[in-house]
Amino acid sequence: MSTIVKIGIAGLGTVGVGVLKIIETHRDLLEARSGARLVVTAVSGRDRAKDRGVSIDGLTWYDDARALADDPEVDIVLELIGGSEGIARDLCMKSLRAGKPVVTANKALLAIHGSELATLAEDNNTSLAYEAAVAGGIPIVKALREGLTGNAISRVYGILNGTCNYILTEMEETGGEFDAILQDAQELGYAETDPSFDIDGVDAAHKLAILTSLAFGTPVDFDSVYVEGIRNVTAADITAATELGYRIKLLGVARRTDKGIEQRVHPCMVLRDTTIANVSNVFNAVVVEGDFVDDTIYVGRGAGEGPTASAVVADIVDIALGRHTPTFGVPMARMSDIPKVSVDDHIGCYYVCLTVYDRSGVIADVAAVFRDENISIESLLQRGRSRQEAVSVILVTHQVQEAALVRALEKIEKFTHSVAKPRMIRIVSL
Ligand code: NDP
Ligand code: HSE
Repeated sequence: MSTIVKIGIAGLGTVGVGVLKIIETHRDLLEARSGARLVVTAVSGRDRAKDRGVSIDGLTWYDDARALADDPEVDIVLELIGGSEGIARDLCMKSLRAGKPVVTANKALLAIHGSELATLAEDNNTSLAYEAAVAGGIPIVKALREGLTGNAISRVYGILNGTCNYILTEMEETGGEFDAILQDAQELGYAETDPSFDIDGVDAAHKLAILTSLAFGTPVDFDSVYVEGIRNVTAADITAATELGYRIKLLGVARRTDKGIEQRVHPCMVLRDTTIANVSNVFNAVVVEGDFVDDTIYVGRGAGEGPTASAVVADIVDIALGRHTPTFGVPMARMSDIPKVSVDDHIGCYYVCLTVYDRSGVIADVAAVFRDENISIESLLQRGRSRQEAVSVILVTHQVQEAALVRALEKIEKFTHSVAKPRMIRIVSL
């Protein structure tokens, strides 16, 4: 005879409705796999009357989601509202304090308050599960925390935001405008409520901060992540990338260096024949480099109703089975305090696009700045020929320290020949 596990869901939007559908569709399968009958007993949202395309008849409704923590008919609380503060945080803290396991898809909350919540879960001998928070349907949390536990990780990186990947793919394939493509992504349910979180790289940075903690056993440290989004990537950059043999992707990269851990999110040029370069549309991909296993690659849908709910349900089944691992892989008391490295120290090759007047002496002046900063140029190409008009000059550098390149671009921006702020995109070797 199976036990009954009673579930309370806060938030009946894209993800919450998806969870209701999976539990309904796979009732018997989930019972066989978890040894428990999973029953949703209570829900909370803002608008009780809203048509959600699923029935919530017979379920207890709470206007205040925090009531789920007190309800004796709720064994597991799902926080599927979103936001790093307010009701989502209150609900998680209250539930953990009450010793109730929490499942959340909320990467913003975990990136900012992950350590505090993990400590609460430990102190109250309960679970905080969040598979859906990173890369949606890809079981990367489980892979890092359990499957790869025999390895020291040197680097974890990937495409962590479906909206940006969708926009970059569509820009390349259709030549369409950024704003129109963003609107499509919102209508498809990929983008966050505030889409600036997606396009400015914040959502990917939230996920990277969580991955860093899992990979390196350090407390989640969102403030140390360097973040740059895709707003400034132009159609001309995409064309130039194609001509140079690259594709532009927004990557999150966490890497262990001699000086500490580097955490950065920014547009990257990656060689077109790499796996990452060929992960398109809303798909996410994560690569983990372990010392014994070598590279492992995970690709799948990083957003949307079904994939995200699939990850939430996996966490519910783990809890029903009594499987328990420390929230970020190691107990909070055993976390390592490894220093974080600034992006200024990053060493790599760079694509640079200058917009300058087409007149004599410009390239000589640019070359002098690069020489003074000890930056070696691999290639240089002028786009167009238009006497006294602005043209694009595209450069690719050899390996250089980022701080030196930034200084060089600041000097070039001040030239009288410069028409616009120079743009640069990091070339990442994978
Ligand atoms: P939605 O905006 O679709 O849904 C949010 C839900 O929260 C709505 O049902 C809303 O109620 C409810 N809600 C808002 N405020 C309150 C409140 N004060 N009290 C109770 N309920 C409230 O969000 P998603 O489902 O897309 O996202 C949920 C979480 O999952 C977020 O943390 C998000 O970052 C994360 N996530 C989402 C993914 C996706 O693809 N959508 C992928 C991975 C993670 P009402 O419907 O009545 O307005
Ligand atoms: N807005 C996010 C994305 C949803 O586009 O990837 C998944 O976290």
